[in-house]
Amino acid sequence: MAFTLPPLPYAYDALEPAIDAETMTFHHDKHHQAYVDNLNKAVDADASLAGKSMEEMFATMSKLPKAVRNNGGGHWNHSLFWELMAPHGQTGEPSAELAAAIDRDLGGLDKFMADFNAAGAGQFGSGWAWLIVQDGKLKITSTPNQDNPLMDVADEKGAVVLGADVWEHAYYLKYQNRRADYLKAFWSVVNWNKVNQLYAAAI
Ligand SMILES: [Fe+2]
Repeated sequence: MAFTLPPLPYAYDALEPAIDAETMTFHHDKHHQAYVDNLNKAVDADASLAGKSMEEMFATMSKLPKAVRNNGGGHWNHSLFWELMAPHGQTGEPSAELAAAIDRDLGGLDKFMADFNAAGAGQFGSGWAWLIVQDGKLKITSTPNQDNPLMDVADEKGAVVLGADVWEHAYYLKYQNRRADYLKAFWSVVNWNKVNQLYAAAI
């Protein structure tokens, strides 16, 4: 069963002005499609991977081909990323449980957002900023390239609650080199309904 590109769950321009339609079009239709196509090629080339889920592959990623790591991570990370954002008016807000955990583990919402943005801005080159649940507690981390906290190669492992793509392809058309401005705008489209759901499932 081949991996497929999930449709974007909203219109290309639905996240404007935070994320422009042109960026969303290239990001979803071209970049994500390429991860899907190259993942399928890599999996087809290795009979031992037939029928395995991405999560199964992530658990043994250190032993798998680099193409599976890069493109499998690319496919999984982006599939989640689209759902982690929502059009204005549909983003919701942190649940009481999540807000309490953010206060307890991360020093409150403002500090969490600032530290998450710092993790994204500080990720050298391409990568992702993450909010994870590790041993029952919230933690901010980042990964290079298309790695994620489910992979055995990750420095910090845990269940993903939120992620932000900090590859230049996620922001360059609108923000050029201003990654910090993109991350600041990202919060206006964070789909807290989805984040709440992931947090509830993780604990
Ligand atoms: Fe991306």
